[in-house]
Amino acid sequence: MYSEVKNTSDANEGQFLTTLLFSVNDRVGILDECLTAIRNLNISLTRIESRPSRDLGWDYDFFVDFSADDEQLSAAIKSLKEITKQVKVISSGGSQGVSMPWFPRRKYDLDTFADKVLEMGEELDADHPGALDPVYRARRAEITRLAKTHRHGHPIPKVKYTEQEIKTWGTVFRSLKKLYGTHACREHQLVFPLLEKNCGYSEDNIPQLEDVSKFLKDYTGFTLRPVMGLLTSRDFLNGLAFRVFHSTQYIRHHSKPHYTPEPDVCHELLGHVPLFCDPDFADFSQEIGLASLGASDSDIEKLSTIYWFTVEFGLCRQGNDIRAYGAGLLSSFGELEYSLSDKPEKRPFDPHKTSEQKYIVTEYQPIYFVAESFKDAQQKVRDFSNTLDRPFSVRYNPYTESIEVLDTQEKILRYAQNIKNDMVTLVDGLERL
Ligand SMILES: [Fe+2]
Repeated sequence: MYSEVKNTSDANEGQFLTTLLFSVNDRVGILDECLTAIRNLNISLTRIESRPSRDLGWDYDFFVDFSADDEQLSAAIKSLKEITKQVKVISSGGSQGVSMPWFPRRKYDLDTFADKVLEMGEELDADHPGALDPVYRARRAEITRLAKTHRHGHPIPKVKYTEQEIKTWGTVFRSLKKLYGTHACREHQLVFPLLEKNCGYSEDNIPQLEDVSKFLKDYTGFTLRPVMGLLTSRDFLNGLAFRVFHSTQYIRHHSKPHYTPEPDVCHELLGHVPLFCDPDFADFSQEIGLASLGASDSDIEKLSTIYWFTVEFGLCRQGNDIRAYGAGLLSSFGELEYSLSDKPEKRPFDPHKTSEQKYIVTEYQPIYFVAESFKDAQQKVRDFSNTLDRPFSVRYNPYTESIEVLDTQEKILRYAQNIKNDMVTLVDGLERL
């Protein structure tokens, strides 16, 4: 058995105590390889314990305790994953000695999510229109393999879509575009022509994630990252903290162009991408992501419910109208019309209430939440996240593309110095107006 480590007496400044689990198969020298990988990072173990693995496919589980800083921990996970795929952080206490779930500290840590999918990664549920089509399944698997092997810093591989796939895309594209003028929010309408002009959005072409990602990066710093299927809520939200949106690259089955039980390239490119071009929406999305880092399981559930009712199914007030900004609406011909009709109930967006609202995934939503603006929603999510049970603050450092945990005086002082420098620039700018 293992126990959580909460005692900080062994930890130096900037280091925290961690319990890591890795599983191995019975092979001569495997344990030595794992321990050497940890030792090479200058990490000293304070405990090592083994037990027969409960997980089918593995012979033994090893639990190791050590003190390390953020970089060492990330590097240890990365090195161990090169030897064994099964590596888990059991507990990782901040330097204040409070245990918290592991979370990515650097953008390349998102590589650890590459082959972690909940469902429909390589298999399809029985109700998927392509479940019984071996050609579709093989094609989908071919595309998901690209995501599986993709690593941070490399271009997203391009997919040569077939005529049939482009036809499916065209059907979806044409029907949705007709509705955008009357149903999509201002931000979506503003950017859509730019995507047509710069990223190959048209009814006879499926845009490439790489091209779209570069365009987004120029606009708001958001980037796309290919994904095999549904990630866990925690992993998916953690990605948003880095302004990274995990996007599928395959397309729905051609037999039902207006239906898909899972996200596909139509949903991502037509629903999500236009909004990530808006700076306020990008900030709002990152705010949810930052709140998710190291959050408890129950808080992750609240945040993913907020995500569901905003980024996926959100409505917003624009002048006297209500318009759609959620990607689940902007990529669904039927639900986009329905959501703005008199049929569903519409309530004001309030993270405290929204986060508790139950939702259904298989039918149109009976309730939608209406945001006053993305800025307003961002502030509300920020206030809400301050009420969550997390004993530390984080900030994203765009220069190093990393998360800083503000848990030491030195880090907070450095942050304050940055703000001071920004204030000087701000005052200078105001004086020159
Ligand atoms: Fe989505």
